[in-house]
Amino acid sequence: MWGIIATWRMAHDGVLAAKELLEQEGTCGDAVETSIKCVEDYPFYKSVGYGGLPNERGIVEMDAAFMDGDTFKIGAVAGIVDIANPISVARKLSNEKFNSFRVGQGATEYAMLAGFERKNMLTPRAKKIWKKRVAEVAKTNLSPYDGHDTVGVVSLDQHTGMAAGTSSSGLFMKKQGRVGDSPLSGSGFYVDSQIGGATATGLGEDLMKGCLAYEIVRLMGEGVTPQKACDQAVYSFTDLLKERYGKAGAFSLVAMNKAGEWGVATNVEFTFTVATEKEQPAIYLANPGVDQTTIIEPITKEWLDAYEKRIKAPV
Ligand code: GLY
Repeated sequence: MWGIIATWRMAHDGVLAAKELLEQEGTCGDAVETSIKCVEDYPFYKSVGYGGLPNERGIVEMDAAFMDGDTFKIGAVAGIVDIANPISVARKLSNEKFNSFRVGQGATEYAMLAGFERKNMLTPRAKKIWKKRVAEVAKTNLSPYDGHDTVGVVSLDQHTGMAAGTSSSGLFMKKQGRVGDSPLSGSGFYVDSQIGGATATGLGEDLMKGCLAYEIVRLMGEGVTPQKACDQAVYSFTDLLKERYGKAGAFSLVAMNKAGEWGVATNVEFTFTVATEKEQPAIYLANPGVDQTTIIEPITKEWLDAYEKRIKAPV
């Protein structure tokens, strides 16, 4: 059995590329890295890699992580700059026994010394959006923050291996050095090949309060289906946050178990993409339903057309 699930419509082309690998007995690690690199390389996705929106100083600081579900090896980077593919750096770091989570200059220097491709990640389009926002913020009292759509992937290969990965340029207009959930084990991702894996997108500051990726894997380990595990973790924690913290940011999680069954839960409209040995690759729309359930429906052509227009609209 093989399978792959990923957050957001933006991951679909990567999932298609990973499907080819997985069908030919490629590894889950290669599937995760390949699919995430596709997103990092595409200039019109505003929250990941090249084209990602910068921090308040106009610098694209990126976070990424990779986890191997057989060995629990984890590699992660936070606040890395001018490197084309943070996911590949995170994956390489996962082989280090020590110093496997690098931040800021240490992460960038590690990547440069290891020979990873250097690239100015601030596209002219992202720079324009940033300049516009800086001007707006100077004029109004509105919160400058939005846009933190991480690509998160969980993959299962035909050798029973599982892996997970994330990549994000984080919160648009974030303060220098701000790090979200994406590189944090248990919050942005978690995978155990003997159970399954989960990954998150959304407001990192709130996701890390609940360690939801770990919670979903823990529930799956108790025999709960991926869908029920996602529903239980996401909706209970959304309620708990509202009760104890006063509000809950937008977040969504996807999960897959070792049998290739998957689940999704979200407290906001959310798209995701999935392919398995039994299911053709497809993009779905998810919304919170009643009584801690999730409404999942196939994406429509209208939705996709509007999305395509939106991401390429003149700034
Ligand atoms: N989920 C990505 C972030 O908050 O940075």
